[in-house]
Amino acid sequence: MSKLRPVTPISIIAALLSDVMSDPSMSILKNSKVWKDLERAKELANGLDPYLERNTSPESEVLKSLKQKTLDFNWQDRTGREFVNGLEPEMLSGHVEGQFLKLMVAISGAERILEIGVFSGYSVLAMAEALPEGGVLVACELDPRAAKFAMDQLQAAGFGGKVRLELGPALASLETLAKDSEKFDLVFVDADKPSYREYVKYMLDHGLVEVGGVFLIDNTLLQGEVYLGEEDRGVAAAAIHDFNDYLTNEPRIEQVLIPLRDGVTLARRVI
Ligand SMILES: C[S@@+](CC[C@H](N)C(=O)[O-])C[C@H]1O[C@@H](n2cnc3c(N)ncnc32)[C@H](O)[C@@H]1O
Repeated sequence: MSKLRPVTPISIIAALLSDVMSDPSMSILKNSKVWKDLERAKELANGLDPYLERNTSPESEVLKSLKQKTLDFNWQDRTGREFVNGLEPEMLSGHVEGQFLKLMVAISGAERILEIGVFSGYSVLAMAEALPEGGVLVACELDPRAAKFAMDQLQAAGFGGKVRLELGPALASLETLAKDSEKFDLVFVDADKPSYREYVKYMLDHGLVEVGGVFLIDNTLLQGEVYLGEEDRGVAAAAIHDFNDYLTNEPRIEQVLIPLRDGVTLARRVI
């Protein structure tokens, strides 16, 4: 399995501590309290994700296989302007977050799910596993190659019948869904960060999600950059920072930001 780049606050902290402690110019004595504290900090940071994995119900064989195929696929090998740049295996939500999404579907009893940002289909498949008979998941994806990869995997896993793919920019898909008076019990937002605010506001304004409906919104910690100073925020982090502010002040929503992986906001429409 290829080594993935750290993309969550805790894995970034672990990598930074490793770098510092293996730096030959570091002159802290190995038996000093400072060194022992650094070792403890590194163990705490490195141990969290494996512990979460071990104490989360295991992934199904089809999820495991989809993850492996995502890691093995060459996402860099892209031609044509219709493709989204920068797709990479690090985008995949994975075991612990996938299990969280699956449980949220089961607990909420959602029968109509919308996902914005499919990539290789891991989160779609995790949620589809908990969808009841007759349930439907509408999956919006801009990139045709990712959409095909995901649909091939979903069909092979026997979930193709539950999933309807909307190919194109998500906002255009939302407009079509609203025009057709479609409603969703649960929405997972995991696409281009600068559009998060527009997506959620559009779904609220146009009744795609009604009172009681659930939103799950990914990457709301954006590698921790949202709580660093403004000068340390990239474009995506600045957008998520604004989005988090918007959501906190959105009277139609109540929410909690959960420090799961790169941050997942769980929200519910209350008005
Ligand atoms: C982080 S990945 C999604 C990961 C996936 N939800 C998972 O858990 O494995 C983001 C996806 O959003 C897609 N995307 C980016 N901009 C989009 C847009 N405007 N409309 C629809 N999808 C978009 C990208 O092509 C990419 O596949």
